[in-house]
Amino acid sequence: MRILDELVRHHRLIERVAGSLVTFASRPGASARPAETLERYCTFFEQYADAYHHAMEEDVLLVALREAGLPEKGPIGMIREEHVENRAAVRALRAFGAEGRLEDPGFAEAARRYCARLWEHIDKEDSVLFPEIGTRLALERAKLDAGLEAAEKEASGISGLEALGAELVAGFPPVEELPGVIRGEGCTPCRHYGEGCQGVEREWWSDLEWDEFYRRDH
Ligand SMILES: [Fe+2]
Ligand SMILES: [Fe+2]
Repeated sequence: MRILDELVRHHRLIERVAGSLVTFASRPGASARPAETLERYCTFFEQYADAYHHAMEEDVLLVALREAGLPEKGPIGMIREEHVENRAAVRALRAFGAEGRLEDPGFAEAARRYCARLWEHIDKEDSVLFPEIGTRLALERAKLDAGLEAAEKEASGISGLEALGAELVAGFPPVEELPGVIRGEGCTPCRHYGEGCQGVEREWWSDLEWDEFYRRDH
Protein backbone atom coordinates (compact mmCIF):
# COMPACT_ATOMS: atom_id res chain seq x y z
CA MET A 1 0.00 0.00 0.00
CA ARG A 2 1.55 3.26 -1.07
CA ILE A 3 0.24 5.15 1.96
CA LEU A 4 2.01 2.73 4.36
CA ASP A 5 5.28 2.90 2.39
CA GLU A 6 5.09 6.67 2.51
CA LEU A 7 4.33 6.84 6.26
CA VAL A 8 7.24 4.47 6.97
CA ARG A 9 9.48 6.74 4.89
CA HIS A 10 8.35 9.71 7.04
CA HIS A 11 9.19 7.71 10.17
CA ARG A 12 12.79 7.18 9.06
CA LEU A 13 13.26 10.95 8.78
CA ILE A 14 11.29 11.89 11.92
CA GLU A 15 13.22 9.45 14.14
CA ARG A 16 16.53 10.85 12.90
CA VAL A 17 15.50 14.46 13.44
CA ALA A 18 14.42 13.48 16.99
CA GLY A 19 17.87 11.94 17.57
CA SER A 20 19.44 15.09 16.14
CA LEU A 21 17.42 17.23 18.56
CA VAL A 22 18.96 15.25 21.44
CA THR A 23 22.46 16.04 20.12
CA PHE A 24 21.61 19.73 19.78
CA ALA A 25 19.98 19.93 23.22
CA SER A 26 22.97 18.28 24.90
CA ARG A 27 25.12 21.25 23.79
CA PRO A 28 23.00 24.11 22.46
CA GLY A 29 26.04 26.41 22.66
CA ALA A 30 27.52 24.51 19.70
CA SER A 31 25.00 26.35 17.55
CA ALA A 32 25.77 29.97 16.60
CA ARG A 33 22.07 30.87 17.09
CA PRO A 34 20.60 28.26 19.41
CA ALA A 35 17.16 29.85 19.83
CA GLU A 36 16.77 29.95 16.06
CA THR A 37 17.96 26.35 15.74
CA LEU A 38 15.39 25.20 18.29
CA GLU A 39 12.72 27.06 16.36
CA ARG A 40 13.71 25.14 13.21
CA TYR A 41 13.33 21.81 15.07
CA CYS A 42 9.92 22.90 16.37
CA THR A 43 8.85 23.93 12.86
CA PHE A 44 9.83 20.49 11.55
CA PHE A 45 8.01 18.61 14.32
CA GLU A 46 4.90 20.80 14.21
CA GLN A 47 4.49 21.13 10.46
CA TYR A 48 5.87 17.84 9.20
CA ALA A 49 5.60 15.24 12.01
CA ASP A 50 2.30 16.56 13.35
CA ALA A 51 0.31 18.66 10.86
CA TYR A 52 1.26 16.44 7.91
CA HIS A 53 2.25 12.96 9.11
CA HIS A 54 0.11 12.53 12.24
CA ALA A 55 -2.85 14.17 10.51
CA MET A 56 -2.57 11.68 7.63
CA GLU A 57 -2.53 8.77 10.09
CA GLU A 58 -5.59 10.08 11.92
CA ASP A 59 -7.65 11.29 8.97
CA VAL A 60 -7.00 8.34 6.69
CA LEU A 61 -5.85 5.24 8.62
CA LEU A 62 -7.63 5.62 11.94
CA VAL A 63 -10.85 6.73 10.26
CA ALA A 64 -10.75 3.63 8.01
CA LEU A 65 -10.14 1.36 11.02
CA ARG A 66 -13.13 2.85 12.84
CA GLU A 67 -15.26 2.44 9.71
CA ALA A 68 -14.16 -1.21 9.61
CA GLY A 69 -15.72 -1.57 13.06
CA LEU A 70 -12.61 -1.55 15.27
CA PRO A 71 -13.15 0.07 18.67
CA GLU A 72 -11.77 3.50 19.62
CA LYS A 73 -10.53 2.01 22.89
CA GLY A 74 -7.16 0.24 22.59
CA PRO A 75 -4.59 0.95 19.86
CA ILE A 76 -6.62 3.62 18.01
CA GLY A 77 -7.23 5.68 21.15
CA MET A 78 -3.61 5.27 22.28
CA ILE A 79 -2.22 6.46 18.97
CA ARG A 80 -4.47 9.53 19.08
CA GLU A 81 -3.55 10.21 22.71
CA GLU A 82 0.16 10.04 21.92
CA HIS A 83 -0.23 12.50 19.04
CA VAL A 84 -1.75 14.96 21.52
CA GLU A 85 1.07 14.31 24.04
CA ASN A 86 3.73 14.80 21.36
CA ARG A 87 2.15 18.12 20.38
CA ALA A 88 2.29 19.30 23.99
CA ALA A 89 5.92 18.14 24.30
CA VAL A 90 6.96 20.33 21.34
CA ARG A 91 5.22 23.32 22.94
CA ALA A 92 7.16 22.63 26.15
CA LEU A 93 10.46 22.43 24.22
CA ARG A 94 9.73 25.72 22.50
CA ALA A 95 9.10 27.37 25.89
CA PHE A 96 12.73 26.66 26.90
CA GLY A 97 13.82 28.81 23.94
CA ALA A 98 11.28 31.56 24.57
CA GLU A 99 12.36 31.78 28.21
CA GLY A 100 16.09 31.76 27.38
CA ARG A 101 16.61 28.48 29.29
CA LEU A 102 18.42 26.40 26.68
CA GLU A 103 21.37 25.80 29.01
CA ASP A 104 19.03 24.51 31.71
CA PRO A 105 19.63 20.72 32.13
CA GLY A 106 15.85 20.34 31.99
CA PHE A 107 15.97 21.23 28.29
CA ALA A 108 18.28 18.33 27.38
CA GLU A 109 16.14 16.05 29.54
CA ALA A 110 12.93 17.22 27.83
CA ALA A 111 14.54 16.59 24.41
CA ARG A 112 15.58 13.05 25.44
CA ARG A 113 12.11 12.31 26.78
CA TYR A 114 10.45 13.60 23.62
CA CYS A 115 12.80 11.54 21.44
CA ALA A 116 12.19 8.37 23.49
CA ARG A 117 8.40 8.84 23.27
CA LEU A 118 8.55 9.47 19.55
CA TRP A 119 10.71 6.39 18.93
CA GLU A 120 8.34 4.25 20.95
CA HIS A 121 5.38 5.64 19.01
CA ILE A 122 7.08 4.98 15.67
CA ASP A 123 8.09 1.43 16.65
CA LYS A 124 4.49 0.59 17.55
CA GLU A 125 3.14 1.97 14.30
CA ASP A 126 5.77 0.19 12.20
CA SER A 127 5.46 -3.15 13.96
CA VAL A 128 1.79 -3.29 15.04
CA LEU A 129 -0.49 -0.70 13.47
CA PHE A 130 0.77 -0.70 9.89
CA PRO A 131 0.97 -4.52 9.49
CA GLU A 132 -2.59 -4.75 10.90
CA ILE A 133 -3.77 -2.17 8.38
CA GLY A 134 -1.98 -3.99 5.57
CA THR A 135 -3.99 -7.13 6.27
CA ARG A 136 -7.28 -5.91 7.79
CA LEU A 137 -7.78 -3.13 5.28
CA ALA A 138 -6.23 -4.86 2.25
CA LEU A 139 -9.49 -4.40 0.32
CA GLU A 140 -9.46 -0.68 1.11
CA ARG A 141 -6.12 -0.15 -0.60
CA ALA A 142 -7.49 2.13 -3.35
CA LYS A 143 -9.40 4.28 -0.85
CA LEU A 144 -6.42 4.61 1.51
CA ASP A 145 -4.04 5.49 -1.30
CA ALA A 146 -6.57 8.07 -2.52
CA GLY A 147 -6.45 9.54 1.01
CA LEU A 148 -2.69 9.84 0.71
CA GLU A 149 -2.98 11.56 -2.66
CA ALA A 150 -5.54 14.04 -1.30
CA ALA A 151 -3.30 14.85 1.69
CA GLU A 152 -0.28 15.29 -0.60
CA LYS A 153 -2.25 17.60 -2.87
CA GLU A 154 -3.54 19.68 0.00
CA ALA A 155 -0.19 20.02 1.79
CA SER A 156 2.29 22.60 0.71
CA GLY A 157 6.01 22.93 1.33
CA ILE A 158 6.52 19.25 2.24
CA SER A 159 9.74 18.88 0.24
CA GLY A 160 11.04 22.05 1.96
CA LEU A 161 10.25 20.54 5.38
CA GLU A 162 12.00 17.29 4.41
CA ALA A 163 15.01 19.35 3.33
CA LEU A 164 14.89 21.17 6.69
CA GLY A 165 14.91 17.83 8.51
CA ALA A 166 17.87 16.61 6.46
CA GLU A 167 19.74 19.84 7.17
CA LEU A 168 19.18 19.54 10.93
CA VAL A 169 20.39 15.92 10.84
CA ALA A 170 23.50 16.97 8.92
CA GLY A 171 24.22 19.81 11.36
CA PHE A 172 23.65 17.81 14.55
CA PRO A 173 24.32 14.10 13.94
CA PRO A 174 21.52 12.11 15.56
CA VAL A 175 22.01 9.85 18.54
CA GLU A 176 20.92 6.31 17.68
CA GLU A 177 20.27 5.16 21.20
CA LEU A 178 19.29 6.63 24.54
CA PRO A 179 20.23 5.38 28.00
CA GLY A 180 17.52 3.11 29.41
CA VAL A 181 15.54 3.07 26.17
CA ILE A 182 15.11 -0.24 24.38
CA ARG A 183 13.52 -0.04 20.97
CA GLY A 184 11.42 -3.06 20.14
CA GLU A 185 8.58 -4.52 18.19
CA GLY A 186 5.06 -5.41 19.21
CA CYS A 187 2.82 -4.26 22.05
CA THR A 188 4.95 -5.32 25.00
CA PRO A 189 7.39 -2.34 25.01
CA CYS A 190 4.42 0.08 24.88
CA ARG A 191 3.87 2.00 28.09
CA HIS A 192 0.09 1.71 27.63
CA TYR A 193 0.25 -2.09 27.49
CA GLY A 194 -1.89 -3.43 30.32
CA GLU A 195 -2.92 0.12 31.20
CA GLY A 196 -5.61 1.39 28.88
CA CYS A 197 -4.80 -1.14 26.17
CA GLN A 198 -4.53 -4.92 26.47
CA GLY A 199 -2.57 -5.31 23.25
CA VAL A 200 -3.74 -5.60 19.71
CA GLU A 201 -4.77 -9.28 19.94
CA ARG A 202 -7.06 -8.81 22.94
CA GLU A 203 -8.43 -5.49 21.70
CA TRP A 204 -8.97 -6.37 18.05
CA TRP A 205 -9.02 -10.09 17.41
CA SER A 206 -12.39 -11.65 16.64
CA ASP A 207 -13.49 -15.06 17.98
CA LEU A 208 -12.70 -16.45 14.56
CA GLU A 209 -9.13 -15.20 14.71
CA TRP A 210 -8.65 -16.69 18.18
CA ASP A 211 -10.06 -20.03 16.98
CA GLU A 212 -7.69 -19.97 14.04
CA PHE A 213 -4.77 -19.13 16.36
CA TYR A 214 -5.55 -22.08 18.68
CA ARG A 215 -6.04 -24.43 15.74
CA ARG A 216 -2.64 -23.46 14.37
CA ASP A 217 -0.68 -23.45 17.61
CA HIS A 218 -2.21 -26.17 19.81
FE1 LIG B 1 1.50 8.39 14.83
FE1 LIG C 1 3.67 7.79 12.50
